[in-house]
Amino acid sequence: MSNHPRHLIDVDDLDDSAIETLLERACELASGAAPAHVAASVVNLFAEPSTRTRVSFELAARRLGMDVVNVDSAGSSAVKGESLADTLATVSAMGVDVVVMRQSGNGRMRELLDVPGSRPSLVNAGEGSVSHPSQALLDAATLKARGIEFSGLRVAIVGDVAHSRVAASGLRLWPRLGVSDIRVAGPTDLLPPEAPAGVEVCRDLDRAVADADVVMMLRVQRERIDQDQWPDPGDYFARWGLTRDHLEKAAPGCVVMHPGPINRGVEIDADVADGPQSLILDQVRMGVFMRMAIFEWVLGLPRSRRDAT
Ligand code: CP
Repeated sequence: MSNHPRHLIDVDDLDDSAIETLLERACELASGAAPAHVAASVVNLFAEPSTRTRVSFELAARRLGMDVVNVDSAGSSAVKGESLADTLATVSAMGVDVVVMRQSGNGRMRELLDVPGSRPSLVNAGEGSVSHPSQALLDAATLKARGIEFSGLRVAIVGDVAHSRVAASGLRLWPRLGVSDIRVAGPTDLLPPEAPAGVEVCRDLDRAVADADVVMMLRVQRERIDQDQWPDPGDYFARWGLTRDHLEKAAPGCVVMHPGPINRGVEIDADVADGPQSLILDQVRMGVFMRMAIFEWVLGLPRSRRDAT
């Protein structure tokens, strides 16, 4: 393993070759390649609820033979006032190799890279509304595993884009993979004030879905919105909920994605979520393989060593 820890705070930390390595490795593992055996330890430090991400990081670590400890904020010394930096220094002193971290605030993870003497690799498992790189990567791997080419792909991202860390990381990743037609759509107050360059803002769902190859639906992140601003679920579904009728306007073979958790009858009709075009559970499955690939990458496991296992 490398002496210098690698970190994954966002997709910007990855050069093109690292992105390719992670996508390829996740697809290899999903196709049945033997996982490496890694003598390393990981602490999953989650300060926000999670089902998919927390479970898949734990399963990924166990499949690689790593020691895993799960800590949620209610059960940690954070409730006694310990800072995140001191928590990190504490687990670092115990010789932990990787800390997987979910945080509600924006921008704090990168500051932790400066904690003196800290040695674990930091892996972002979702940070506020700004980044969720492992989800963006597993979404891309889900498409790659199906043989879908990124070049020329038309991707529509619909819903609460403003508060979605998945959308934020995705909007940084998709262009780097060669996706050139990206649209976002949703209620005006749930769209970012400024769309990234080259991203089309659509004011209705039909326009966003028209000829799209991939439609990625997002839930309304109520935990990041004042309660008096929450949209009425029925009204929201009438305007922004994805139904089979909308999908008629998409490109033939269009696939539907959603990072979860899904809210049936709010942003997506149950018929679509469970339908033949839905990749929602494929994304969940790929999550384990992508997180295995991420552990291998942050630990600097060389290909030769992986292949030898
Ligand atoms: N996609 C995602 O981050 O889901 P969880 O909140 O369940 O981890």
